[in-house]
Amino acid sequence: MSHGAVSITPGVDYFPGFLDRSAQEALRDEVLAILKLAPPFRPRMPRTGKPLSVLMSNCGSLGWVADESGYRYQATHPETGRPWPAMPPTLLAAFAALAPDAPPPEACLINLYDPTARMGLHQDRDEEELAAPVLSFSLGDTALFRVGGLQRNAPTRSFRLASGDAMALAGETRLAFHGVDRIIAGSSTLLPEGGRINLTLRRVTKVSA
Ligand code: SIN
Ligand code: FE2
Repeated sequence: MSHGAVSITPGVDYFPGFLDRSAQEALRDEVLAILKLAPPFRPRMPRTGKPLSVLMSNCGSLGWVADESGYRYQATHPETGRPWPAMPPTLLAAFAALAPDAPPPEACLINLYDPTARMGLHQDRDEEELAAPVLSFSLGDTALFRVGGLQRNAPTRSFRLASGDAMALAGETRLAFHGVDRIIAGSSTLLPEGGRINLTLRRVTKVSA
């Protein structure tokens, strides 16, 4: 991949400052408009029902949800029952720029972190199409992000994802364990109420031949 990628490990590409400040502001405003239509919900762990510390929403034709019935993609918001808002063209263009060979993304998961929220180590593996990369864009406060290997106990590396940074999990690390250890409160002025927004774009279904 191009665009000044820094390879963290093979397949984990980091694009510091991919979005400049005005692009971050435009994307922030688009996300805030999406959240008015598709209000943030609190995901819960399958079986136990334990709430996650992040709030979530989605845009695109499919959205990722988590509750007692499991992790899954669905076409509608779990609380309003309405279809997810469309993915902004700017996000589709950013995906196409970073992953020109991949089929277009269907889901954009919007994770909302307050300064105490985190995300435990996990794999993104609810997608049928594992050939396409997972791309993420960060807005607002910096996150301390951790990425490991294909086994939970493999060695991990940490790096910071700041506002405007993009990151890809592709190829051999598409299924790498990853998570967010913490948010550095007050590290960005982009979001009026502070905190962090991460947008994760994924292809879900296989493209039929
Ligand atoms: C996730 O893995 O779902 C979120 C990653 C992030 O917030 O950077
Ligand atoms: Fe993830």
